[in-house]
Amino acid sequence: MMWGIIATWTMAYDGIKEAGEILQAAGNAKDALEKAIIDVENGPYYKSVGYGGLPNKEMIVELDAAFMDGDTFDVGAVGAIQDFANPISIARALSTKKVNNILVGEGAAKYAAQHGFERKTMLTERAKIHYDNKIEQLKTEDIKPYDGHDTVGMVCLDQGNSMAAGTSTSGLFMKEPGRVGDSPICGSGFYVDSKVGGATATGLGEDLMKGCISYEIVSLMKRGMSPQEAVDKAVGDLNRELISRRSQAGDISVVAMNNQGQWGVATNIEGFSFAVATADQPATVYVCENHEDGTTYAEATEAWLNNYYTTRKAPLKRLK
Ligand code: GLY
Repeated sequence: MMWGIIATWTMAYDGIKEAGEILQAAGNAKDALEKAIIDVENGPYYKSVGYGGLPNKEMIVELDAAFMDGDTFDVGAVGAIQDFANPISIARALSTKKVNNILVGEGAAKYAAQHGFERKTMLTERAKIHYDNKIEQLKTEDIKPYDGHDTVGMVCLDQGNSMAAGTSTSGLFMKEPGRVGDSPICGSGFYVDSKVGGATATGLGEDLMKGCISYEIVSLMKRGMSPQEAVDKAVGDLNRELISRRSQAGDISVVAMNNQGQWGVATNIEGFSFAVATADQPATVYVCENHEDGTTYAEATEAWLNNYYTTRKAPLKRLK
């Protein structure tokens, strides 16, 4: 029986490995996906998700997350929530309600507290050093504080042909307080239909939303495209439209899986990586290259992975 899970970025590897065990044992897509995203949220070294995520411009960590059930189209999301350990679980709980599915800021925190979700101070010492160093760099260098952003997004298929999708992110580093990106927005950061497939995005939320890119990919698959054809077309089209109308396009990277467990990936940046596991292949990390005519990818080598983990965990020095 087929099952599968695909996720943005290397940080998802451990989570999708665990999810794969759940799916292999005939567990359901919703549980497997939530568990996999919790694993990323709990990791202290991932700068754009959960604990250790980088703060907004007032040095406050504000988190966005979403959950979608591909059978029922139930969607739940939180935006700009502070100091809860696992926003994905709050989003999943909200998805089961008839109304009030998307809560932001204080309202989201109030709901989470009332329903017993774990509180946690999400700003780490490491994130504070990143923040202080960025403030120093901005004094002398002409850089954008927003560079290098990695949201986790996942699409999951179980043996019963049910699918789920989810996202979790701390959003852009040094964003305005209250800023919400694509990740909790249905159709932009994620979309899934168990009768077709699902997609999820990472990159510059403000630009991803302009193309409702996850819905677009699922819609293309619904019209008969393979996941790879759909992501190539959706990313290529949005990238071209943004450049022609606005002279530039922000970072756009997507992964998709259909309800047969076939998958696809496309990006307009260098260095995008993703992780996938299916009934036919063990959990694997791939690294992408972006070319004018599309995206290619190759399995991450051991040296690449060692370098990734060493860099992520290396002690950080204060610039001042
Ligand atoms: N893609 C995540 C964000 O822009 O917040």
